[in-house]
Amino acid sequence: MSSEEIIKKQTRYILPGDTTGRHPIVFEKGKNAVLTDVNGKEYIDCHGGYSVTNVGYCHPRIVKSIQEQVAKIWHVSWDYYLIPTSLLAEKLAQITPGNLNRTMFVSSGAEAVENAVKLAKKYAFKKRGRGGAEIVALTGSFHGRTSYAMALTGQNKYKQGLSTYVHPGVIHAPAPYCYRCFYRLTYPECGLQCASYVENLIKYETTGDVAAFISEPIFGEGGIIVPPDEYLSVVVKIFKEHGALYIADEIQTGFGRTGKMFAVELFNVEPDIMAVAKGIASGLPIAATIVTDEVAEVFVSVDHCGTYGGNAIVCAGALENINVLLEEKLVEKSAQRGRVFMEGLGELAEKYPLIGDVRGRGLMLGVELVRDQKTKEPAKEEANNIRVNMAKKGVLVNVGGVYGNVIRLQPPLCITEEQIKTVLERLDDSLKALS
Ligand SMILES: Cc1ncc(COP(=O)(O)O)c(C=O)c1O
Repeated sequence: MSSEEIIKKQTRYILPGDTTGRHPIVFEKGKNAVLTDVNGKEYIDCHGGYSVTNVGYCHPRIVKSIQEQVAKIWHVSWDYYLIPTSLLAEKLAQITPGNLNRTMFVSSGAEAVENAVKLAKKYAFKKRGRGGAEIVALTGSFHGRTSYAMALTGQNKYKQGLSTYVHPGVIHAPAPYCYRCFYRLTYPECGLQCASYVENLIKYETTGDVAAFISEPIFGEGGIIVPPDEYLSVVVKIFKEHGALYIADEIQTGFGRTGKMFAVELFNVEPDIMAVAKGIASGLPIAATIVTDEVAEVFVSVDHCGTYGGNAIVCAGALENINVLLEEKLVEKSAQRGRVFMEGLGELAEKYPLIGDVRGRGLMLGVELVRDQKTKEPAKEEANNIRVNMAKKGVLVNVGGVYGNVIRLQPPLCITEEQIKTVLERLDDSLKALS
């Protein structure tokens, strides 16, 4: 079947069927950081399937572990026990920071976020005797597409016409988006006003019964927004003083993406609840909510169950995925290759006024394009143009951000320095063509 026929079928039979943002490319296979389409054309993948494929495509060890598990058992139910499920939960307790020891498995990031909120509210009820009336999230954030996860998401572009996404108990604090500061101040002279403001937010905008503060330690969909180093610890401290828990949404930042196993390690904070997905299994449908022993105490069987959570095949694959991450030192490689990438992007920023800002950690990098360095008018069409142009040249990048003008570079962590060099050259060519 030709690419055209496959694209026609997908457009006709899959919802949503519109092709906005979609390249007319049909992929057949992948190996490490390279994807191959049905016509045999190769692409260096800096898109990472929305920052998912951390160990790369089709690692032979993961393929083997899945194949072996498929031949043994796929699924029972939570009424019984499974080997890969318990081994994976133990591994997560070993690699997550602080006291995060108990895992609840689900199938998608949004579900992991929903359960994080549910746990925080139950904790407030059982430990503080109140219902935990509010959850505070950040403007510009993204937490998923289910009802509560969308309510937490601090961007209205995803919510148009959907009143189901309005939850009265969700309040948004200003994002630590220094390039477009809420207060039009500059770090560090700003004295971290966005962080200290949350004290007022709790005082004036909540009932005083905040169950939790949730944040992505580094924003993904919002445009690779990296907060100042001390931002998170200041904010989390304020919330803790008010009895609220900290939920880290590490769905995009986890498993080596930022050069640390988890991004909270960059900012010296210990979450009470962590939501993970994506890089946990480099593309198998598994996600998890991981909590401290203290938080775990508030949940009993009747409080949660999901039919597919902890499925044996995906748990076996996820476990081997983490083993590969650790043994092939991909977290360290993410930090080192991220520095190489960042240096090259910095050079491009000197050359092209279209680049307003370059930011990120590890292999979670963003290039914000603007039409004017002073007004910072977002260059959304230009970003899209670069995305299309680079795909033609055999490099896949993603575009995102609150204004749709951030080129997102989130390749598999096994990307080589040679491949990074090629990506930078293609980006240089694409920027030159636009200038
Ligand atoms: C930070 C963050 N949270 C939650 C989600 C939702 O995950 P899923 O699409 O698996 O539901 C995403 C997805 O992009 C994400 O980046």
